[in-house]
Amino acid sequence: MYNPRVKFSLDNWTTEFAKTQTRPRPYRNAAVSFRPSSIDDRELRRKLLEEGGLNVFKFPAAMIPGCDLLTDSGTTTMTMRQWSQLLLGDESYGSNEGYFEFKNQIVETFGPQWENRDRDQENVFIFHQGRAAEHGLFTCLARLLESGTGTVFPGRKSSASPIIPSNGHFDTTEANIHAAGFEPRNLFSPELRTKDEASLFKGNMDLGQLKALLADPKVRERIPLVYMTITNNTGGGQPVSLANIRATAELCHGYDMPFLFDACRFAENAWFNQQNEPLCKGKSVAEVVRLMFESVDGFHISLKKDGLVNIGGCLVVSEQGLLAKRYPQLQAMLVGHQILVEGHPTYGGLAGRDLKGVVEGLKTVVHQEYITHRINQVQKFGAWIDEYCGADVVVKPVGGHAIYLDLDKFFAGTSLRDDQFPGISLTALLLIAGHRMCELGVYAFGKLVDDKEVPSDPRVNNVRAAVPRLCYEDADLQSAAEAVGILYKRRDQIPGVEVVYGQDKPMRHFISRFRFA
Ligand code: F0G
Repeated sequence: MYNPRVKFSLDNWTTEFAKTQTRPRPYRNAAVSFRPSSIDDRELRRKLLEEGGLNVFKFPAAMIPGCDLLTDSGTTTMTMRQWSQLLLGDESYGSNEGYFEFKNQIVETFGPQWENRDRDQENVFIFHQGRAAEHGLFTCLARLLESGTGTVFPGRKSSASPIIPSNGHFDTTEANIHAAGFEPRNLFSPELRTKDEASLFKGNMDLGQLKALLADPKVRERIPLVYMTITNNTGGGQPVSLANIRATAELCHGYDMPFLFDACRFAENAWFNQQNEPLCKGKSVAEVVRLMFESVDGFHISLKKDGLVNIGGCLVVSEQGLLAKRYPQLQAMLVGHQILVEGHPTYGGLAGRDLKGVVEGLKTVVHQEYITHRINQVQKFGAWIDEYCGADVVVKPVGGHAIYLDLDKFFAGTSLRDDQFPGISLTALLLIAGHRMCELGVYAFGKLVDDKEVPSDPRVNNVRAAVPRLCYEDADLQSAAEAVGILYKRRDQIPGVEVVYGQDKPMRHFISRFRFA
């Protein structure tokens, strides 16, 4: 009630509103798309699911009225500013406007050492997506090593294949490393392997293991470069600390070893450092990004994640860094590779308008309000799932782009075995509810050897719900969390599956067909 004795002051109101518990999104809907199917079409989804052999990848996206959490890659809702830039796209074959803006933005976002000062050598290699950049790098590197023209491996004759260590390679990176005849090595942090829930940087490189590899001259001569994935997607979207980045760089550079990032989720990684890493206290996310990138000699990035676009990728080489120094012919080879498979290096498999869109995306992604909202939403989603399940089933701490349901916890106490693939059943049933998630567990990562199932090492057994950027509202994610809760409460009624097709095939989770057992 109005009290005339309390003196009116606007200060009181600003203090009062600062106590608000709820917070609006830092953006608003500028365009929406209606869904062509209703959340109530459960019978229709059941039929489609059976027709597609219970495989979530084969389910028509238009028939998913709830949350499509298959991936956070290329699924971003672009901002109005990005759309306006697309209209301004310059579609010239050589040296389009977006190319120059993109190269300037690389320097703006990642720091001055990424500038192209050498007029005769390109240092930013544009590709249509991340894996094309990985393919370009490892194909060219393999050719260099075979011809003995890398300064590290003069006339390399050894039959042992080169090793690419990492804190955790993504599956396409791993596949491209294999395809080049190299061996990927995952040096997951001890905290990740032991599922330590208190650790804030479980994505870190295991420095002990890396030190052991590099200190042995026989192993070291087989290592052309060291990779680090930020955030560590395979390890659950877990961040890597700036301290670990710097220590890895120091170790590598002490041996003249090039050190590279797989930088898909660089802004999310920077946010975790801003919040929890003492070295980053008081810094803006944009400043933390530059600090992280000071340590590396090159990086590749799928712009479909923190580039906030639907397509695009690139590989960037620091002209003063060890990658350029140890492989002086690499940049010229990359240009040749681009021309062969993508297009002229100034557009590299993208339209000119796409480059304009990504420039704008790179500016937006480091805004404090955006990135805080983004990661808070993913974290809230994780909390809702545990709440609806009434149990602790989500992998902790929650990473930047996705929730991982721990299938071992989810199905604990039921009689289901690994070879009945309960994660496949879980994701199939979720589709009837209207939401799509993906098994990244004993089916996706395991393989059939002599008719026996062999899990990956270390064994990973999760369902991933990756959250697209700027796409869903909290209520949408709450509804997906509720569906998980319904399944958890009746988990003893969830059957396993039999594999009808594809159990022995590579990348089998994309193509297999199943039926409920
Ligand atoms: N590296 C990481 C860490 C990734 O997460 C991805 C893609 C890539 C490289 C390859 O990039 O798709 O543009 O070719 N990850 C997506 C995912 C597909 O669902 O996690 P791309």
